[in-house]
Amino acid sequence: MTRIFLLPLLSLLLLPLHAQTVEHVAELNPQQKAAAKHLVLTGTLTTTGNSDFRQMRDLCWQLECADLSRAHCAALPANAFHSRHRLLRVLLPQDVERIGSQAFFACDALQTITLPATLQSVGDGAFNRCNALQTLVVEGTPQLGAFAFAGCTALKEVRLTSPTPPAAQTTTFEGIDQAKCRLLVPAGAEEAYRKAEGWSRFYAEASAPYTVCDPSACLVPLPASMTLDGGSKTLRVKAKWLIDAPAALANESRQARSLIDARLKGCSLHGRATLTLRTDSTLPDAEAYTLQVHSKGVSITGATAAGVFYGLQTLDQLLRADASAACCDAVPLLTIDDQPRTHVRELMLDPARTFIPFDELKRFVAEMARYKYNALHLHLVDDQAWRIEIKAYPELTAKASARVGMDDMLVPIAGFYTQEQMRDLVAYAASYHVQVVPEIEMPGHEVAAIHVLPQLTCGAKQVPIRTTCGVSNELLCPGNEFTYTFLGRVFSELADIFPSPYVHLGGDEAGNPALDCWTHCDRCRALKHQLGITTDDRSENWRLQQYLFDRVIDTLRTKHGKTPMFWYETDFKRIQPGCVTFSWRHGLTRAAAEAAVRNQARIMFCPGEHCYFDYPMAQGDMPEVNWGMPLIPLKQTYDLDLAWGMGEDFERHNLFGVAGTLWSECINTPERIYYQAFPRGIALAEVGWSPQAARRYPDFLRRLRPALTDMQRRGVTHSMAF
Ligand code: ACM
Ligand code: ZN
Repeated sequence: MTRIFLLPLLSLLLLPLHAQTVEHVAELNPQQKAAAKHLVLTGTLTTTGNSDFRQMRDLCWQLECADLSRAHCAALPANAFHSRHRLLRVLLPQDVERIGSQAFFACDALQTITLPATLQSVGDGAFNRCNALQTLVVEGTPQLGAFAFAGCTALKEVRLTSPTPPAAQTTTFEGIDQAKCRLLVPAGAEEAYRKAEGWSRFYAEASAPYTVCDPSACLVPLPASMTLDGGSKTLRVKAKWLIDAPAALANESRQARSLIDARLKGCSLHGRATLTLRTDSTLPDAEAYTLQVHSKGVSITGATAAGVFYGLQTLDQLLRADASAACCDAVPLLTIDDQPRTHVRELMLDPARTFIPFDELKRFVAEMARYKYNALHLHLVDDQAWRIEIKAYPELTAKASARVGMDDMLVPIAGFYTQEQMRDLVAYAASYHVQVVPEIEMPGHEVAAIHVLPQLTCGAKQVPIRTTCGVSNELLCPGNEFTYTFLGRVFSELADIFPSPYVHLGGDEAGNPALDCWTHCDRCRALKHQLGITTDDRSENWRLQQYLFDRVIDTLRTKHGKTPMFWYETDFKRIQPGCVTFSWRHGLTRAAAEAAVRNQARIMFCPGEHCYFDYPMAQGDMPEVNWGMPLIPLKQTYDLDLAWGMGEDFERHNLFGVAGTLWSECINTPERIYYQAFPRGIALAEVGWSPQAARRYPDFLRRLRPALTDMQRRGVTHSMAF
C-alpha cells in the first residue's frame, strides 16, 4: 500500500510551490496566465466562451497543476484540458457531476486522477491517450463513456470504492495492459466486477463475439459500385496472409503488410488467405481500382499503384467493419469497382501561425490517406513566421521562425523545416500517394519575410512580425526588382524540393483596402507609369497585381514547369488560362466558378461555408474563442456539390478538385489539427471521391460511425459535436 500512496505524493512534491489562488482565471493578467504553473481556483467556474477552462487550457500554457478542489463546477466541459501535455495533476471540484467528452484527451503527463463520489458521468474519450496515467481512483459509480480511459497504457492501479461496478463500456479501458494493471475493488465485490461490462477485461481476455462485416455500413468514402458475390458466403480474415505482388508494387505490398499486421495484432489466426495486388492500365481512370473478396483471399487491381493503394484503404475499412474490434472475423464475398469523382483531394495545413513539428506532418499524411486524399497543401509562410529553409536567404528562418504570441495566447511558437526534412516528407507522402504542394504567399501575408528583408516592401519599412491574426497592409513591392529576384530564388529552391506539378502563390487578402500599400510608393508609381497604367480609381493597383502575377507565373511555367495556384479574389479580373484558382470566400463560389470558365482556368473547391475546418463545427465547440468564425456543421460540409449547378462541361473542363483548410490561428496543439479536421474531413473526402447521385447524409452518418470509433481506438481525436 505504501507504494500506492507514495507515487501521487512524489508527483505533488515535484510541482512548483508557488500556487496562484484566485476565484477565476480572468483575475490574472495575460503575463500571469502565461507564467502560471500551479493554479488554485475557488470560484464557481465558467464553462462557455472564454471560460475558466478555455483560459486554463489555451492561455495558461505552462500549467502543471490545476487545483479545482475548492471551486464549484457541476460539469467540466468537453475538451476542458484537451491535449495539455504539461498537465501533471488535477484535483477535481468536490461537487463535479459530469466530465465532458475528451476533457483530458492526450494529457500525457497526467499521473493520477481521483473521481469524486459526486460524479455521475465521464464522457467518451475523456482520458483517452493519457498514457502517463498510473493511478485512477473512482469513489462513486459514475457512468464511464466509450474509450474514456483508452490508451492509458501506463495504468498500474484502478481503485474503486463501490461494491456495485460503475456502468462501463467494453471500450472504456481499451488498450490498457491488464497484466500490469491491478483492479482494487471492495471486499466481496470481485465477482460483480468480473462479470460487468468493461471491467471483465481486468480478469481475463474478453471473448469477443464472431463478427461479419456489413460492407454497406463501413466504407467512407462510398465506392462507385459494390456487388455481393456469394450470397451468405464469407472469407475468414483472421488468417495468415500471403501477399502476392509484382516488384513494381513493392511499396503497396509493404503498406498492405503493415495494414494487415495492425488489424490482426493480438488475434489468433486460423488458416491462410492471399492478397493479390496487380495493375491493369485498361481500368477507366488512373486512380481506379477493383477489389474482389473471394473464397481464397482478396484481389486488388489498380490502374496504377495509386489505385492499388486506394483498394488497400478500402480493404482496411472492410477488415475494421463496425469497429467493435480492431478487426472483424469475416468479410462477405464481393466486388468493388471504384474511381474518384475528382482528381485532387487535398487538406491544407498551416504551420506558419502555429508551428507543426515535422513528425506530426507525417502522422497527418498517414491519417488523411485513409480517406483517399492525395494532396497535402502546406502554407509555409505568413505574417507570423517563415517556416522553410531557403539557402539563398538563411536569415528568413534564422530571424522569422520564432515569436511569442498568437492573439491572446502568449506562448512561444518556434520552428522551421529544413529542406532535407521536406524532401523526406515528400518521399514519405509519396508512399501514401499524397503529393505535397508548397505555398508561398504574395503579395500579402508576407510580413515575416518583410521583417527580415525590409527592401521587399514599399518604402523599405522595418516592420515587426505579427503576433495577431488578420490582414496586414504591408505588401511585397512590385516596383522593386529585388522582389522578383527574391521570389525567383525562393521558387527555384522550392521547385527542386517539391516534385508536385503545382505551386501555390497565395494572392488573398493583400491589404485592407486591397493593395493600398502601392498607391503612394514611388517605385510602384514609376512602374505604373512605365506600364502605361494611368487610372486612379484603384484599378491601377489591381493591374500592378496582374503584372506581378504574370511575371512570377511565367517564370514558374517556363523555368520550372509548374502550374500556379492562387486564392480567388473578385478583383482578379483575369486568371491565367490553365492556372488553378481556389474559391474560398463565403458566398463567392459562383463568381469564382464563372471566372474560371471565362478564363479557361480550373477551380479548386474550398468554399469557406463548407471547407474551413478550423471553424467550429457547432456552437460551443473548439475553438470557443476565435475572431468571429461562422459555424460549419458536418452536414454543411457534406452538402457541398462540386458541380455547383454549373453543368457537365464545367465539371469536365474546369473542376480541379476539393480542399479543406486548417488555418492554425486557433489550433495550438498537433492533436487539435485532427480535432478540427475530423469528421468534416471524412465528409469532404466523400464529396471529392464518391458519385454525387449515390450520396445521402443519413447513410453517410451510418458509415461514418465505425470510422470514428476506429479513430478513438487508435487514439486519434475528432470533434464529437454533431
Ligand atoms: C484565406 O482564407 N485567406 C485564403
Ligand atoms: Zn512599392
